[in-house]
Amino acid sequence: MSAQKTIKAPRPLIAGNWKMNGTPADLKQIRALIAKLSGKSRYACDTMICPPATLLAPMAELRAKMKASRQLALGGQDCHANASGAHTGDISADMLKQAKASAVILGHSERRSDHGETDKIVKAKVEAALKAGLSAIICVGESLKERKSGDTLKVVGKQLRGSLPDGCTSANTVIAYEPVWAIGSGLTPTTEQVAQVHLALRKALVRRFGDEGSNMRILYGGSVKPSNAQELMAVPHVNGALVGGASLKANDFLGILAAYKQ
Ligand code: 13P
Repeated sequence: MSAQKTIKAPRPLIAGNWKMNGTPADLKQIRALIAKLSGKSRYACDTMICPPATLLAPMAELRAKMKASRQLALGGQDCHANASGAHTGDISADMLKQAKASAVILGHSERRSDHGETDKIVKAKVEAALKAGLSAIICVGESLKERKSGDTLKVVGKQLRGSLPDGCTSANTVIAYEPVWAIGSGLTPTTEQVAQVHLALRKALVRRFGDEGSNMRILYGGSVKPSNAQELMAVPHVNGALVGGASLKANDFLGILAAYKQ
């Protein structure tokens, strides 16, 4: 069974990762975003914002007030592998869930580099997230050095194998390919390079998870902007985007969503 034959393109997801940005003053961006998502414009994709944990509850409240829980999903940016306990500064998957997140980003390259997160740690966090009923958005991506030495597919393949537990399904798992050198740099891989990595990831997912693997969403992330979104989203096996900087302002984010405008 070839990976190509089994594709029924999954519904795309555009997720915004606010990283360590945002205070209550920025809720106006969410208000503006929801107003458009609930208005006449129709987008053939799911939409999510992953704010700092402090903004999950206020965003959820605003979303409820605007009756837009179907239009905008919320996600966390990390969780601890344990359910509770003496882990100062950490947050559990269930805490995110109770603050109305439906997903959590795990294994982002900034977590891997700032906090020394290994594939093994990421996998344990994914297990905790799935157990709490969250979906996991699991990030993989090569450094510039690894790209230059021709090791990209080897690196992302190893991260994928090591970071995903058994039991991942297309409903509870999303993969995000984020080349580390493309994050926040304004640089993006060529569409051929993106296509090569996404196809390799798809094949690896199908090998391990069968039909579930063929339906799992594989997002591209790294300097996605309104000006390049359409081109990147048209690449085979790109099922949406994980957006950093350009998700902070409603207008920029809407410009990226426009790649899926109906
Ligand atoms: P930028 O879109 O700012 O490059 O960030 C990408 C990213 O890291 C999303 O998780």
